[in-house]
Amino acid sequence: MKGLILSGGKGTRLRPLTHTRAKQLVPIGNRANLDYAVDDLSDMGIRDIVVVISPETGTEVQNHLGDGSAYGVNFTYVLQDQPLGLAHAVKTARPHLGEEPFVMYLGDNLLTGGIGHLLEAYHEGETAACILLTEVPNPQSFGVAVLDEQGQISRLIEKPAEYVSPWALVGVYLFTPLIHKVIETLQPSPRGELEITDAIQGLIDWGFTVRSEKVRGWWKDTGKPEDLLDANRLVLSRLERNIAGTVEESELVGEIEIAAGAVVRNSRLRGPISIAAGAVIENAYVGPYTSIGQNAVVKDAEVEYSILMQGAQIRHLSRRLDASILGEEAWMGGRSRKSHSYQVILGDRSSVVVDGE
Ligand code: TTP
Repeated sequence: MKGLILSGGKGTRLRPLTHTRAKQLVPIGNRANLDYAVDDLSDMGIRDIVVVISPETGTEVQNHLGDGSAYGVNFTYVLQDQPLGLAHAVKTARPHLGEEPFVMYLGDNLLTGGIGHLLEAYHEGETAACILLTEVPNPQSFGVAVLDEQGQISRLIEKPAEYVSPWALVGVYLFTPLIHKVIETLQPSPRGELEITDAIQGLIDWGFTVRSEKVRGWWKDTGKPEDLLDANRLVLSRLERNIAGTVEESELVGEIEIAAGAVVRNSRLRGPISIAAGAVIENAYVGPYTSIGQNAVVKDAEVEYSILMQGAQIRHLSRRLDASILGEEAWMGGRSRKSHSYQVILGDRSSVVVDGE
């Protein structure tokens, strides 16, 4: 069994964060989103992993993942010139997948329950594909599966305009090489992409067995900014207390991770919180579900339910920062904590919401 991680695409919905970074590298609980996918595959003993990358962010993804030795796996990188769809990504990777079954994992998806039951559903010689489903309130935004009375998949529809089923396809799939044969016959969809839902529907139409399993634990597709905060919350809710950094004159409550080299001084922390190496928290309040990246600074300020990426800084804020995402080296601050003005330097297409009195 091989692995296939899709880490190309455009990430338009996560702009401005993805103007300068691959969306799969956005940190969730102070680890790149992609790292969780690699862990899920390697936990299943999958060692050979093909990674699809794009011309825009491929180098960055490669620099982050390396050759795989840090994860105990081997990565092979494949460049997809344009994001022409998930099935197009499979087509691009085909020469490296050989005649073996493989687990395809979208690099911006997060699962807590792992993928063990997906692999258990696969029976060699009998199953052509296995997919993971989860019930969602907004099926029109996903590829969905219509199930018959026996719970078997009767058909798949990409982003249905009308309600047909609450069961969305999660971005983790197990395929046998039969999928390549179907993909050869696919035409681009109205949005111009080779759709993986069409490919799986093709397997069903050709009479092959496609099994489905329900997601265990939770699943998150981190396509939009609010999803990132929620994914961060879900990851941090499993955190265990681990204080390796320096803590002085501070009150720590709940599950808090402070990496070696981080400093917390004269502050109140209410976990779960993850604080990465080199971060400085001083005269501050940090509330639940907050990730503070490497070398980030929170000084004379309050923040909760937020993500501060590497090197981000908030200083001298008279009001608490809530449900916020600060990109790398982003900066927000007043001149003193008493000041009633804000000073911000925002990149292209940034957004700031200031709540009224
Ligand atoms: P999507 O979220 O469907 O697409 P996207 O990354 O282009 O994002 P947006 O809609 O915000 O512009 O992609 C799901 C995952 O698959 C993501 O990790 C990117 C990857 N992908 C590819 O590798 N190649 C592709 O052709 C596409 C469409 C996606």
